[in-house]
Amino acid sequence: MKLLLAVLKQIHKPAVRTSQQRCRSSCASGGLSPLRDEALVVGSSRELVQRLGSQVEVRTGFITEEEEGALLRELEPGLKKKRYEFDHWDDAIHGYRETERARWGAACEEVMNRVRSAAFPEGGPLLGPVHVLDLDKTGYIKPHIDSVKFCGSTIAGLSLLSDSIMRLVKEDAIDEWMDLLLPRLSLYILRDQARYNFTHQILRDEESVFNGQKVPRLRRVSVICRNLPR
Ligand code: OGA
Ligand code: MN
Repeated sequence: MKLLLAVLKQIHKPAVRTSQQRCRSSCASGGLSPLRDEALVVGSSRELVQRLGSQVEVRTGFITEEEEGALLRELEPGLKKKRYEFDHWDDAIHGYRETERARWGAACEEVMNRVRSAAFPEGGPLLGPVHVLDLDKTGYIKPHIDSVKFCGSTIAGLSLLSDSIMRLVKEDAIDEWMDLLLPRLSLYILRDQARYNFTHQILRDEESVFNGQKVPRLRRVSVICRNLPR
């Protein structure tokens, strides 16, 4: 367990350069209701959103409220034993506690199988345990790229308890960005270039505005599956 958590820390080391600066002038999908699937991703240009479209997916309502409840019933006892960590300046994450889980009860195992078949090719090797990250209401994830040493081409995450915004910023061209609206109960998948060439971050409540609309950030628990590097 200790070792695995040490690996988790390596997964999300902060990006050397933080990239808050962005161009807000052009949005790829102005005016669409954020409740509609095609409006879950906006970006610095329509071309970028189209080019990376197949590598960035948000599936709303991927799990039900009952399944969210089942996941939380399994996860809360372990999480509650930990304290949120706020003040490690070198961490990519602020205001969080985390754990990992290799085995689930039947209802949750069914959900995890659904995530795996939605996100990963059959039979490909996955990072054994699933990563669980609990962000306090004031917590947030700074821009980073998951370790290429420990994780492969695909990252898939369920969002429990809160909507949030994931921002992707091109590592070597910070004016190229995409914002993903991650509704509670949704699954997101990042693949290939979106995973390797863009930093990702989860915005703090004060910055949590999607396409001009405030998205309140509450406590958020994410359940993240990754594959292994080839
Ligand atoms: C991470 C990460 C995203 C999420 O832990 O490396 O980026 O959805 N998490 O919590
Ligand atoms: Mn990450």
